[in-house]
Amino acid sequence: MRALLGVAMVLAGLCACSAAKQEPEAADLRWAETSRPVDARLAERYERACMACHAQGGSGAPLAGFTPHWKPRLRHGIDQLVRHASDGFNAMPAMGQCNDCSADDLRALTLFMARSGT
Ligand code: HEC
Repeated sequence: MRALLGVAMVLAGLCACSAAKQEPEAADLRWAETSRPVDARLAERYERACMACHAQGGSGAPLAGFTPHWKPRLRHGIDQLVRHASDGFNAMPAMGQCNDCSADDLRALTLFMARSGT
C-alpha cells in the first residue's frame, strides 16, 4: 500500500512538472552565461567551479537563475541543497569541484544560482 502511494505521488509530481515551464529559453541561457555573484571572491569561485555545469543548458545540472529548475528543489529547504552541494548528490560532485569553498561560500553560491539571495 505504501509503495502504491509512493508511485502515485511520483506520478502526480511528474504531471505537475510537465505542466510548468521547464525548458530554458535563450534569455535564460544568456542570464546564466553572463551573471556572476556581486562579490568578486565568490564570482571567481563560481567561474572556476560551478559555471562549467550550472551555466549551460543540457548538462543535467539546474541552470543558474532559472527558477523552474530551482523551485522544486528549494521546497526541500536551502539547508538540504547546501548539504548536497557539500557532500555531492548524484552527478553533482562533492563541493562542486571547489575545494577551497567554505560552507558559507557554498551557501552563497547556491543562493545566487537559485536567485533567492545575494
Ligand atoms: C561537474 C558538474 C557540476 C559542477 C562543477 C557543479 N555542479 Fe552542482 N549540480 C550538478 C548536477 C548534475 C546537479 C543535479 C543533481 C541531481 O539533481 O541529480 C547539481 C545540483 C546542484 C544543487 C542542487 C542540489 C539539490 O539538492 O537539489 C546545488 C545546490 C548545486 N548543484 C550547487 C553547486 C555549486 C555551489 C557548485 C560550485 C561550487 C556546483 N554545484 C558545481 C553538477 C555540477
